[in-house]
Amino acid sequence: MAPPRVLIVPGSARSQALSKRLAAAALAAIDRAAGAGTLIDLALFEMPLYHADLEAREGVPEATRRLQALIAEHEALLIASPEYNGSMTPLLVNTLDWCSRVDRANPTRSGLAIFADKPAALVGSSPGAFGGLRALIHLRDLLGYLGMVVIPQQVVIPRAHQAFDADGGLVDPTQRAALEAVAAALVRAAA
Ligand SMILES: Cc1cc2nc3c(=O)[nH]c(=O)nc-3n(C[C@H](O)[C@H](O)[C@H](O)COP(=O)(O)O)c2cc1C
Repeated sequence: MAPPRVLIVPGSARSQALSKRLAAAALAAIDRAAGAGTLIDLALFEMPLYHADLEAREGVPEATRRLQALIAEHEALLIASPEYNGSMTPLLVNTLDWCSRVDRANPTRSGLAIFADKPAALVGSSPGAFGGLRALIHLRDLLGYLGMVVIPQQVVIPRAHQAFDADGGLVDPTQRAALEAVAAALVRAAA
């Protein structure tokens, strides 16, 4: 059986994003769990702020179509989320909102169809004390509305600016084990 494909999405496009570091650590954990991870950078999927008039006029943006195709060809999704004001980033909401819209030229590989019944996992990071935990609560809800099956295992990394070693691994063995457990559960669910 081919290894289940997992699309890994950091919720920040910032070049030095802590969530990108966590996503890279998750990629390694997914591969160790015998999955096949694909790590993307939302900086390469720039979309305008969702506006229904814009959609009516121009359809979904080209970057949305590219990301929808990627989501469609992966069996599972892992999001590494930062926390903005106790919730997820506007970048993440906007990206997911656009991807939930149907591309009339490609209706079976766009919109809610690409999320339906697919397993998802959430991991969070922030320099603060909660490690993005509050963002994950909102994100879990949103992915549920999209029809995804969000696995119960998750991990948050508080004080994330101090959490990684020079090789990008998590310093804390408990956090490391929790990330491995998330990856293993997601790969199992995707298989
Ligand atoms: C608008 C805004 C709101 C923020 N709110 C929170 C917050 O609620 N909790 C928190 O821990 N950090 C908060 N932060 C700090 C971010 O966690 C920090 O900038 C983090 O590094 C952003 O994620 P990234 O490193 O993945 O880009 C906020 C930052 C911004 C810009």
